[in-house]
Amino acid sequence: MSQPRKIIIDTDPGQDDALAILLALASPELDVVGITAVAGNVPLALTQKNARIVCELAGRPEVKVFAGASRPLVRPLVTAEHVHGKTGLDGPVLPDPVMPLQDMNAVDFIVETVMNEPEGAVTLCPIGPLTNIALALVREPRIGGRIREIVLMGGGYFEQGNVTPSAEFNIYVDPHAAATVFSAGIPIVMMPLDVTHKALTTRARVETFRAMGTRVGTAAAELLDFFERFDEEKYGSDGGPLHDPCVIAWLLKPELFSGRHCNVEIETASELTLGSTVVDWWGVTERPKNALVMRDIDADGFFALLTERLARL
Ligand code: BDR
Ligand code: CA
Repeated sequence: MSQPRKIIIDTDPGQDDALAILLALASPELDVVGITAVAGNVPLALTQKNARIVCELAGRPEVKVFAGASRPLVRPLVTAEHVHGKTGLDGPVLPDPVMPLQDMNAVDFIVETVMNEPEGAVTLCPIGPLTNIALALVREPRIGGRIREIVLMGGGYFEQGNVTPSAEFNIYVDPHAAATVFSAGIPIVMMPLDVTHKALTTRARVETFRAMGTRVGTAAAELLDFFERFDEEKYGSDGGPLHDPCVIAWLLKPELFSGRHCNVEIETASELTLGSTVVDWWGVTERPKNALVMRDIDADGFFALLTERLARL
């Protein structure tokens, strides 16, 4: 096997973030050089703690976890306890973490890692609001030319929004950060709602996790039991969208996804459509193609991958 791909997961766990972290830690093709927490689904004090809870659940207490921004760049923080519960990881009873939080700030860690690793070595995987990534780009713009790729969960085009009619949560929470990231000239792979709304945690899929009979399988099932209840009611579907693990799955098996290169701009001015991702899917402008925007997923293949990997932990 070639050298594992170095990634930094920037996250606001969140049950679906937790599954993304577990998938990454279970996969030898990936070297998780650090996990950086950001405020999003719940405040920073909880997201950094949750990231450590998940590392310990995976049996990986040596993974470095850093805390970053406690609020978006410009706007006040909007959280999503109505989806994820008070802790962000409601569902299973998981022990408080023993592993330490790193002293270094997450933004400094991102800058230092990208500057110290060889050019093109580090992939960023943001699965929360983009505040930490934008701050890192402002702190040290030279990282822009050194990052291999940013693979992120955020936005929506055909599916539009999930927190407002036209905006997806991660982009809505910090649209100014998103605008900074999408205009930085870094190769971006975007996993929007158009993909994640097809990756549903159906009862059968959740029961497959539970049937593993392992600590991780049981915890995954219990996390999803809690997580899907809100979306099942909202969408009337069997299961909820498993957003964030799509990012990690793309790194492992890109053939599960399809999409096209487009221009993506972020709305930061309109109150009505704040945080919407304006995707030039049909190529009706001359604006530069700044992102590979995914549209479809082989959902059965995705859940098969997730099941196979979680069983290794
Ligand atoms: C995104 O928002 C969060 O609630 C999820 O963790 C995911 O990253 C989906 O809109
Ligand atoms: Ca998330």
